[in-house]
Amino acid sequence: MELCFATHNLNKLEEVKKILGSSYNLQGLAEIGCTEELPETTGTIAGNSRQKAEYVFAKYGAACFADDSGLEVEALQGAPGVDSAFYAGPQKSYQDNVALLLHNLTGVTNRSARFITIITFITEARKVWQFEGILKGEITDSPRGVKGFGYDPVFLPAGSARTLAEMELTEKNTISHRAKAMELFLSFLDKEYDSGSNG
Ligand code: IMP
Repeated sequence: MELCFATHNLNKLEEVKKILGSSYNLQGLAEIGCTEELPETTGTIAGNSRQKAEYVFAKYGAACFADDSGLEVEALQGAPGVDSAFYAGPQKSYQDNVALLLHNLTGVTNRSARFITIITFITEARKVWQFEGILKGEITDSPRGVKGFGYDPVFLPAGSARTLAEMELTEKNTISHRAKAMELFLSFLDKEYDSGSNG
């Protein structure tokens, strides 16, 4: 089955390809000819997820799904949240974002946080579905590990002794917010979405 994942982030494309497996022919935005930045102006994670999927569907006519994710830190009233990608500024630097997060949590004992992903799926029939995944954990005092991306080096999943950046991608994919949202999405595809293809 052919599906377009409306993201320019190659890390995420790679993660999701591994989760989906070989029965899906997953295309990235470059493969459908979309090189421009997708709009993300709604101010919420759910809204941005939907906005990106709707944009790609309207402009390229491809059955597609988009995701939007963020890190919500309890002691920071849910920040960085929808601003996770550019928390430290428009340069969208993972390192700067992590540094600012640790700075803002200096001396803070409540380190509880969660990652959230909302996936929006739009089909040819202009129907829209959303799927949510959450990963709970804590923010460490300093970065640990070199794998993954974004806030992975400072995110310790609940019950784990290792940060996400200390885990192999295959292990992260068994617990991550994106994997959980993808799991719901996949089970929906398997059970309820008749693509009319060999998927
Ligand atoms: P996006 O909407 O999935 O692009 O996520 C927005 C931002 O949240 C990213 O730029 C990262 O900073 C952060 N983020 C989302 N998912 C992850 C993850 O799995 N690990 C670390 N950071 C993440």
